[in-house]
Amino acid sequence: MDSSLSATQTKKPEGSVTSRETLTITDNRTGKSYEVPITHGTIRAADLRQIKVDPKEFGMMSYDPAFNNTASCISKITFIDGDAGILRYRGYPIEDLAEKSTYLETAYLLLHGELPTSAQLENWTYNVTHHTYIHESIKKFLDGFHYDAHPMGMTISTIAALSTFYHDAKDIFSADSRTKQTYRLIGKMPTIAAFSYRHTLGMPYVYPDNDLSYPGNFLNMLFRTSETKYRPNPTLERALDILFILHADHEQNCSANTIRSVGSSHVDPYSATAAAIAALYGPLHGGANEEVLRMLMEIGSVEKVPNFIKRVKAGEVKLMGFGHRVYKNYDPRARIIKRVAYEVFELMGKNPLLEIALECERIALEDDYFVKRKLYPNVDFYTGLIYQSMGFPMTMFPVLFAIPRTSGWIAQWEEMLLDPEQKIARPRQIYLGHDTRHYVPIGQRG
Ligand code: SDX
Repeated sequence: MDSSLSATQTKKPEGSVTSRETLTITDNRTGKSYEVPITHGTIRAADLRQIKVDPKEFGMMSYDPAFNNTASCISKITFIDGDAGILRYRGYPIEDLAEKSTYLETAYLLLHGELPTSAQLENWTYNVTHHTYIHESIKKFLDGFHYDAHPMGMTISTIAALSTFYHDAKDIFSADSRTKQTYRLIGKMPTIAAFSYRHTLGMPYVYPDNDLSYPGNFLNMLFRTSETKYRPNPTLERALDILFILHADHEQNCSANTIRSVGSSHVDPYSATAAAIAALYGPLHGGANEEVLRMLMEIGSVEKVPNFIKRVKAGEVKLMGFGHRVYKNYDPRARIIKRVAYEVFELMGKNPLLEIALECERIALEDDYFVKRKLYPNVDFYTGLIYQSMGFPMTMFPVLFAIPRTSGWIAQWEEMLLDPEQKIARPRQIYLGHDTRHYVPIGQRG
């Protein structure tokens, strides 16, 4: 287990002696007491099953809608301390990786647990780069979408369709097969995303250029027109690489939970990844970056921000890009993204919506409604401004989240598969519906 304590645990004060790492529970219905072990600051929900009034009962369960306080797995991939605003991939602070690493190196770290040697990185880069092409039939699939199809819908469908091309993907307990599918998924996500974008513009697809970097090739497939060789702008290429690093993983978020749950049925990784992309698409999750831009455009001017904030506090609308289930402090990624934004604006010109965003942030960081609820800008608040300045339409914003998150999803999926404690996800429920009822013929219904 990761040596650093999880966010649910607190360090014991120096010198404190814990008699026993156990919890004693007294059931006042029976007067019986139970002692359950505490491990890593948690108790096993299964240990509650012994608590019964009648021995024939199923036994006590815990009830935790949306898993607000439930650890679903043991993981060594990503550590978040929401109160301190800390994010680390395999122990490395996100600030270090954003400054010194590249997305492909970070993806290797997430998937293998260690930073690669130069030989490992070279091999990894070679293999991902040589899996960027997609089967020509997939173009026919993409051409079938309407011109105004949302690129996230196209990406979800096309990633799922990859499972029909790579039958070896079902061999999920073969490490070689998982490695091959990993190369394909990480290599092909930018290609499918770029082809989806080009389809919506009615422009010809641009094939991968294996001479370019991962972000550079993505820019090539998105924006190359008549030039024979696309030269990505180094500032935009680096900005995209940093954004990809920041979006690569985030422990047990909604889409990570999805790939773990769907993957627990032992379906192939393409179908499981498609499910994760679908979860990310939601406006409360990765779709928030698109909604932030729509919100800023709806506000329209700095002068109208106070009125919008009033509507937020009245519960009429949400301040998209704010708040987080785990971070009760500034999202460390948002801090870095804000710096990257200024570097992109330096080159592409300041995004006119920036002033509105800054005013929303200024008010929210002072206003008691937000302070009391610990609502801070999250990863999605500033990204849309950057993407728009880079020339992306709003509909591409969640796709730009899905591309880098693919490495985190695969790392979470593989960790679940190889965890001997994990099996098919099948939660329980509290049933409060009807007791037995008998069928009533239609002529006798009220
Ligand atoms: C991502 O989980 C992850 O790690 C996700 C992510 C990742 O990298 O994978 O970090 C990426 O999804 C970031 C979040 C992007 N979503 C948004 O920006 C959408 C706006 N944010 C909210 O919908 C909300 O903050 C969530 C969904 C992010 C978190 O919701 P929670 O933890 O369930 O909190 P909640 O909805 O119970 O809110 C608690 C209170 C409520 O008020 P009260 O009922 O107590 O009066 O805070 C309020 C909420 O109404 N609130 C907001 C708000 N977010 C929460 N009020 C106004 N605007 C908001 N954005």
